[in-house]
Amino acid sequence: MRIAFLNQKGGVGKTTLAVHTAAGFAGRGQKVLLIDADPQHSAIDWTAARDASELPSLFTSVAMPAATIHKEIERLAQQFDVVVIDGPPRVTDLARSAIMASDLVLIPVQPSPYDVWASAEVVSLVKEAAIYKPALKYAFTINRKVVNTSIGRDVTDALREFEDVPVLPVSIGQRVAFAESAGGGRTVMETAPGSAAAREIDALLDAIQEFGA
Ligand SMILES: Nc1ncnc2c1ncn2[C@@H]1O[C@H](COP(=O)(O)OP(=O)(O)OP(=O)(O)O)[C@@H](O)[C@H]1O
Ligand SMILES: [Mg+2]
Repeated sequence: MRIAFLNQKGGVGKTTLAVHTAAGFAGRGQKVLLIDADPQHSAIDWTAARDASELPSLFTSVAMPAATIHKEIERLAQQFDVVVIDGPPRVTDLARSAIMASDLVLIPVQPSPYDVWASAEVVSLVKEAAIYKPALKYAFTINRKVVNTSIGRDVTDALREFEDVPVLPVSIGQRVAFAESAGGGRTVMETAPGSAAAREIDALLDAIQEFGA
């Protein structure tokens, strides 16, 4: 399976969810490749922080901030069960290439109408790609939902404007464990095993498997 986390809006959780998805599937015994398509190479920085902490690597990572991912994906993916692509903010040609390389595009959004509206650009790129790739699947993934609140009516209304884009049935909460785990190149499964954050990632993996199959 090839999963890309994409949204041209910055700071919505692409890298956090990409790294946790890669680590999570690796923890389930899959051979995972993480492609860092962001020129800011945050996912590679995470891997470097992990190396510096002398922790064992969980998956293979490669930096590829180039609009040729879709051309190289067959060769790159050969030895892997799961490929996760961490997308760049902005840069449309990179996002388009990442979409063409994927089976499943997940669009992280924070539960605010502004964030939902700001994903219009990536939604139109995905729909454009789906014309050439009818099997392409895509969904919004709600990230940083404030715990013990429901998704507001305004967000639900904003999502309805993209009624043909499904919303993944699990959401990730606003949890300090995510920010805390990043610095040392760790995941919440390592720093906070059994926590709500770790359970949400587990549920995300199940949802990806179910939705992307
Ligand atoms: N569910 C969450 N709970 C708490 N903090 C989070 C959560 N998801 C992401 N963050 C924090 O929000 C910040 C932005 O997240 P991240 O870097 O994953 O976003 P991004 O979409 O990859 O950003 P960019 O567009 O710059 O690549 C980081 O500091 C991260 O630790
Ligand atoms: Mg990022």
